[in-house]
Amino acid sequence: MLTETDTKARGLADLPPVHSDSLLALIAMCDADPRPDKIDVGVGVFRDGAGNTPILKVMKDAEQRLVDTQITKAYLGSAGDKRFTELLRPIVLGPHAADERISGLQTPGGCGALRLGFELIATANPSARVLVGTPTWPNHPPIVRATGLEISEYPYYERGQGIIRFDDMIAALKAGAPGDVALLHGCCHNPTGADLNEDQWREVIRVVVDRGLIPFIDLAYQGFGRGLEEDAFGVRQALDACDEVIVAQSCDKNFSVYRDRVGSLFVKTGSKSATATAMAHVGQRAREMWSMPPDHGAAATRIILDDPELRGRWLVELTAMRDRINSVRQRIARSDPRLAYIGQQFGMFSMLPLSKDQVVKLREEESIYMADSGRFNVVGMGDGQIDRFIAAVAGALGG
Ligand code: LMR
Repeated sequence: MLTETDTKARGLADLPPVHSDSLLALIAMCDADPRPDKIDVGVGVFRDGAGNTPILKVMKDAEQRLVDTQITKAYLGSAGDKRFTELLRPIVLGPHAADERISGLQTPGGCGALRLGFELIATANPSARVLVGTPTWPNHPPIVRATGLEISEYPYYERGQGIIRFDDMIAALKAGAPGDVALLHGCCHNPTGADLNEDQWREVIRVVVDRGLIPFIDLAYQGFGRGLEEDAFGVRQALDACDEVIVAQSCDKNFSVYRDRVGSLFVKTGSKSATATAMAHVGQRAREMWSMPPDHGAAATRIILDDPELRGRWLVELTAMRDRINSVRQRIARSDPRLAYIGQQFGMFSMLPLSKDQVVKLREEESIYMADSGRFNVVGMGDGQIDRFIAAVAGALGG
């Protein structure tokens, strides 16, 4: 029996502090702010003109149907809802949907898909390096490092000028070694909003093929940029050209089911049998981490995709979200020539050329919450808050 406690022993009491993900810290800070006119352009959730994140009407109906018709909650297995993944294939893979060298499984959100995809890489080739653009989503590097893989950064964006550092990016990718992984944002780049155009995608994939890199595409915002098809352009280019491709996909945003954690991972290898082996490893890694993905959100999403009427209504609601994103972008871009670049970008995020001190000042003095990096969510605010946001940003930029 334990009768004494050695306070000097290494143990739970000696854990070092954690520097938590700044985006999650921002949610807590904003929630704690009592000022009624606060503006939350921090975390990436879509809000409508009234400033709410409603459950899609079609999702409510699908959930009702799920409740009415589900007769069991027995286990589904590590791959989750297989019909859900099957129905996603044409959306994500387009003309490659029938390719038997590509296999997918359901994951807990895009984050689960990312982790699982990098686990697969680490299992296959622990010495692979992951080429990660700067800046990138703050959770990308910790997810990669958690699998033991090494990160090598490539320059992606010049914040002051609002442009992609394309030549530098290409040079860095050319320095990659065969078997290294190029992490790419499929669309609606987070945090910059600066997406590769079609020519740039072609060039990136050309280099990836030449160098023998594996493209790993994070597709978290399909349908929020130019359109469902257009936003998958990079994925399709990679699948056209490469034998090995990994896609981490999320339905959390385009079906507005954030907290339900709905995503999928697609893996392509050079042969059907190699893909089957890779997916057996993926299934085993999933089993070790979460055993099986949560069912509810994927089941409701599957009901929508399986019913032409519900699917049509989803597309209408998705288009409305995209239209709001793009119209708020245009409104901000028109307000000030220094913000004109925001009108050329896509998805929920853009970066303001503000220092951390300026961001903190906006938080303290104007109750405007954005990431320390200057990333803000263009649809974080309701219509009634946009003018105040624009004025405060203009003040911070000076002049
Ligand atoms: C974001 O970037 O704000 C979202 O992807 C939410 C998150 O988990 O960080």
